[in-house]
Amino acid sequence: MRKILIISGHPDLDASHTNRLILARVAERVDEIEIRRLDALYPDYRIDVAAEQQALLGAGIVVLQFPFYWYSVPALLKKWMDEVLSYGFAYGSTGDKLKGKQLVLSLTIGGPAASYAADGYNHFTPDQLLLPLVQTANLTGMQLQPPILSHGMIYIPGVYNTLEDVQARAEAHAERLVAKLGALRADAA
Ligand SMILES: Cc1cc2nc3c(=O)[nH]c(=O)nc-3n(C[C@H](O)[C@H](O)[C@H](O)COP(=O)(O)O)c2cc1C
Repeated sequence: MRKILIISGHPDLDASHTNRLILARVAERVDEIEIRRLDALYPDYRIDVAAEQQALLGAGIVVLQFPFYWYSVPALLKKWMDEVLSYGFAYGSTGDKLKGKQLVLSLTIGGPAASYAADGYNHFTPDQLLLPLVQTANLTGMQLQPPILSHGMIYIPGVYNTLEDVQARAEAHAERLVAKLGALRADAA
């Protein structure tokens, strides 16, 4: 069975209303899975590159689970990418260690879907904003799956959404992620 590695890029998962729930559901429902919680492993942002690369080597399916921050990945996950996806490992003439692995982007987005359009206040679609990650997958030879994303995931009491609503959307998101991981495993079998 292809091992699944989930990299949790949330900088403070204990304070999360959605990413934490998604990860908990996936952990309950998917076998042979390793979840690396970057905020717990690296509260000082000093990443153990060797340990992270070792985890990647053992995985056939890699999931980046993160909240959308300023139209991108959180700084902690960006630092992980900057350091772990190094020359000779992820790119360059001998940097083929990620080649052929499946990559799933699983992200929670604060703003509503309608805002992520040419005529919305965020102007661009998630697919457009995620292009740097698409090219990262290309350069590393990873097989990028269509992103699993959910809108309206910000919860600020009395301002944005209700806890019930964001948690319901997180449950639905987890369902889709679990189904996707099952399908990827079935394809590989
Ligand atoms: C620093 C920061 C930046 C954010 N940037 C965006 C953004 O660019 N677009 C957006 O739709 N939501 C943005 N949000 C909202 C988050 O995406 C949302 O709160 C998060 O997905 C909820 O996940 P959580 O419950 O696991 O924390 C931002 C939130 C923070 C704290």
